[in-house]
Amino acid sequence: MSHTLSETLTVDLGSRSYPIVIGSRLLPQLGAYLQPLLPGRQVAIVSNTTVAPLYLEQVEEALQQQGFATLAILLPDGEAYKTWPHLQTLFDALIQNHFERSATLLALGGGVVGDMTGFAAATFLRGVNFVQIPTTLLAQVDASVGGKTGINHALGKNLIGAFYQPRQVLIDVQTLTTLPVRERLAGLAEVIKYGIIWDETFFQRLERDLDGLLLLQQELLIETIRTCCTIKAAVVAADERESEGGHRALLNLGHTFGHAIETLSGYGQLLHGEAVAMGMVMAADLSHRLGLCGAEAVARIRQLLARCGLPLQAPAFPVDAYLEAMGRDKKVLDGALRLVLVQAIGQAVIRRDIPLESVRQTIQQHLQATGKPV
Ligand code: NAD
Ligand code: GLY
Repeated sequence: MSHTLSETLTVDLGSRSYPIVIGSRLLPQLGAYLQPLLPGRQVAIVSNTTVAPLYLEQVEEALQQQGFATLAILLPDGEAYKTWPHLQTLFDALIQNHFERSATLLALGGGVVGDMTGFAAATFLRGVNFVQIPTTLLAQVDASVGGKTGINHALGKNLIGAFYQPRQVLIDVQTLTTLPVRERLAGLAEVIKYGIIWDETFFQRLERDLDGLLLLQQELLIETIRTCCTIKAAVVAADERESEGGHRALLNLGHTFGHAIETLSGYGQLLHGEAVAMGMVMAADLSHRLGLCGAEAVARIRQLLARCGLPLQAPAFPVDAYLEAMGRDKKVLDGALRLVLVQAIGQAVIRRDIPLESVRQTIQQHLQATGKPV
């Protein structure tokens, strides 16, 4: 196959292993990449009303050239539509168009499209092939890899879903050129997360190279995405289903706070990456409060996130509302909050013995900084 320069990583899951291809201008090669992987000819391209006008035609052509028959299914754009009724419209289209078990659902878009398409693929006819073409930075470094799929419930984020791995992830960094700046910055929050939980050298590289990344320098982008995907692939290969005692839960740094922030704010008000940035600062502050990490680590985390222009101040909701929303998160086990805390840059730990009072004080500390009554 002749194609543009690209690199391939593998998520090693035995017979369900799959490649993550990373490069620039890869979309025209998509059909050739998928040809040897997919048994059937039917491909439903699931996208949304923002991404489809930008990339659908290219993807359709690339697939049709290789003999695939394509059907485009467009969802409305936004986190607020990652819901059961919109999943139902996807199933309607598949059934009306006689999609069979050998078919493939291909997600073309950010994490919302990816999570919904993956859940549809996991459940339609008890499971059909699934391919991820992530087009946001956040989805390229996190959401498209590892097989977490699902939808939101009014009472909590991602509460309904399934683990279901794709057959391939194809990351074309060229798609990031059309991504709004605010979305790019939100993606950087998840990039920084990997440095905090796993790799201090990577965190240092981000401190050094952030300006180039903000300018979308292609080599830097590819190298950064590759590092994130390498970490994620290793974590997922070792602990696919976020088991007790495994490492996958480390990827949730800031997410228990962040999911509460998203739920309380109303889906779509804050971007997922923005809520995660606030949540990571809260988790770092809590870690410091408990004597797990020094003030310098917290300051470096705050500083790097702030250089991305990310909001770090949690929105003002009553502390009890925060605690209740956090208690509904999937990370709760036997009624105890499972929190990811920071021991040092590059080293995180999962704890379920954190006194609720310390969590309460951390939330209060953030809310007091907003100047609003708590
Ligand atoms: P998103 O999917 O809402 O995309 C952000 C915005 O960018 C949308 O308006 C989208 O239409 C637009 N967009 C996408 N690609 C574009 C492009 N190339 N050019 C122009 N506009 C483009 O948000 P996201 O940040 O990608 O993903 C967030 C979602 O991912 C959340 O629902 C979160 O829960 C989920 N998530 C899942 C996992 C996982 O492991 N499954 C991990 C992290 C986040
Ligand atoms: N985004 C967290 C995970 O995939 O486990």
